Amino acid sequence: MCGIVGYIGSRPAVPILMEGLRRLEYRGYDSAGIAALAGGVIDRRRASGKLGNLDALLRDAPLKGTLAIGHTRWATHGKPSEENAHPHMDCTKSLVVIHNGIIENYLEIKDALTASGHKFESETDTEAVVHLIEEKIKALSKRARADFNDPLLFEAVRQALNEVRGAYALAVLWSKAPGTIIAAKTASPLVIGLGTGESFLASDVPAFLEHTRNAVFLDDGEMAVLKSAGCSYFTLAGKKVRKQVHPIAWDRTMAEKAGHKHFMIKEIHEQPEACEDSMRGRLYPLRDGVLQREAGLDPAVLRGLRQIYLVACGTAHHACMIGRYWIEDLADVPAQVEIASEFRYREHVLGPKDLVVAVSQSGETADTLAAVRSAKDKGSKVFAVCNCVGSAITRAADFVLYTRCGPECGVASTKAFIGQLTGLALFAVHAGIARGSLKEARAREIVEDLVRIPGRIRAALKLEPRIIEIAEALHKKSNFLYIARHLNFPIAMEGALKLKEISYIHAEGYAAGELKHGPIALVDGDIPVMVIATRSKVQDKLASNVMEVRARGGRCIILCAEGDKVDAGKDDYVLRLPPMDELLSPIVNVVPLQLLAYHIAVLRGCDVDQPRNLAKSVTVE
Ligand code: AGP
Repeated sequence: MCGIVGYIGSRPAVPILMEGLRRLEYRGYDSAGIAALAGGVIDRRRASGKLGNLDALLRDAPLKGTLAIGHTRWATHGKPSEENAHPHMDCTKSLVVIHNGIIENYLEIKDALTASGHKFESETDTEAVVHLIEEKIKALSKRARADFNDPLLFEAVRQALNEVRGAYALAVLWSKAPGTIIAAKTASPLVIGLGTGESFLASDVPAFLEHTRNAVFLDDGEMAVLKSAGCSYFTLAGKKVRKQVHPIAWDRTMAEKAGHKHFMIKEIHEQPEACEDSMRGRLYPLRDGVLQREAGLDPAVLRGLRQIYLVACGTAHHACMIGRYWIEDLADVPAQVEIASEFRYREHVLGPKDLVVAVSQSGETADTLAAVRSAKDKGSKVFAVCNCVGSAITRAADFVLYTRCGPECGVASTKAFIGQLTGLALFAVHAGIARGSLKEARAREIVEDLVRIPGRIRAALKLEPRIIEIAEALHKKSNFLYIARHLNFPIAMEGALKLKEISYIHAEGYAAGELKHGPIALVDGDIPVMVIATRSKVQDKLASNVMEVRARGGRCIILCAEGDKVDAGKDDYVLRLPPMDELLSPIVNVVPLQLLAYHIAVLRGCDVDQPRNLAKSVTVE
């Protein structure tokens, strides 16, 4: 999730864009850059690290011009560095592109262009696009009039994007089209700001809200031609379209949260996209797919495995607990889950035939990093599933699969958890294929179920109004129990963690079968019990648990499937999700529990995004 901005008008562009990038920093900030067109020449400044580094560079070497584009990066392809920072230029240095998204077929485009003589300077997917546009301009200019102009640039970008697969919000400048910015959008956000004698583009409205509140939101497969006098809009087929202008009422703070009250609820609602982006371009080829191509994990390593150890902390640990079920079921290799802070001090018996799977949103958690180092000291290989490119854990690992959730600003982890589960599901499928324990037909079924998950998360988000009612009824309670079984037992743990860390209510997650071994002594009319009773091979056991709780005066919040017969008592609450196969259900079942925790915390007046005593990344022991 990066931030892009653009300006064309009569004022100096760079100060406008730098302020715009500052207002998009929540979208990612591991490097940044700006390119401006002045006197028929495009010039560029880029810096790794925070935006302040680019600021300092521009103070020493200013950029002039009233036409410019800028970018703040959250790396997905290629480490955070100046050479990987946007904007990216073509071979002639007269064409420049900024991009937010993931180009799935960038490698094949890059290979073909390299073979035809193009020189690449970065590891990014974006650079393949700028060279492809350059190629289209060359081909078109042979047929067009000698002097270049805007329609040629538009047509070159249009043709190039018709060969690109993936997600993009991008902007293009060309020194031979000095009155124009071309923009395009598919699957990544792009909004146009219409000023008086000036036009803006950005990933999100905060970037230009102080200049204009008149916004045009591009839809997937649309392009825009920005000029200072106004903008025109087209489909990728070149058909002109009319777009509605939306007056933006938000203030800046609300705009950074897309109108949501907190980053956490914004990020809960971003979970469908987090899942989509984390699997984009990674589902096929199944054989020698993403683990081989992108994570660098040789199938031979997987075939020779003795044991897998999943190591993490907190929410990431709960993701590992689910990943373990998937790995043992699909990849037929023993897997155990370790709390990193315990594992790092244990005299464990790892060796070269063991694989440690380290899961971490930040990639900086001290205990997980120490566990990784402890494993490597014993000769084990380490595979990291992480959201932050270039973080310490990814640098220590042998193989890395990045989730692509964008920055997670809320301290309570939500969309990163969805990304971790998506990454672990991909790992289990591809490892099963590599080890021959998962037949292609079954693998395809699972992948097709994975593709449906974002839609299922959207359906789960529709329960929010009903969940708010439950939160209103129960937010004054002092204790909660969460129970589930099998694949969803870790979701009971995660639901309890969400509630306790943001509402400060004591909550415990339990394997439902453990209830009768002690925790049922807690059950009375004053401790709500969340029961995850969606479709599973143990669903009838959970129905018995509900009866056990009710027999002791307890009240349940029952999460089940539409159409399931649930014997709910008059004081019970029932939340229903569309029925689905058990295997991937944890990725969806967590959503109502996140929403319940969030709304209870809001009703209790808690600081949801920065809960007391907590930090987003625990970089100390
Ligand atoms: C989860 O809501 C917490 N913020 C915390 O448990 C977190 O998951 C844990 O600290 C691990 O962080 P990491 O994923 O960055 O390693």
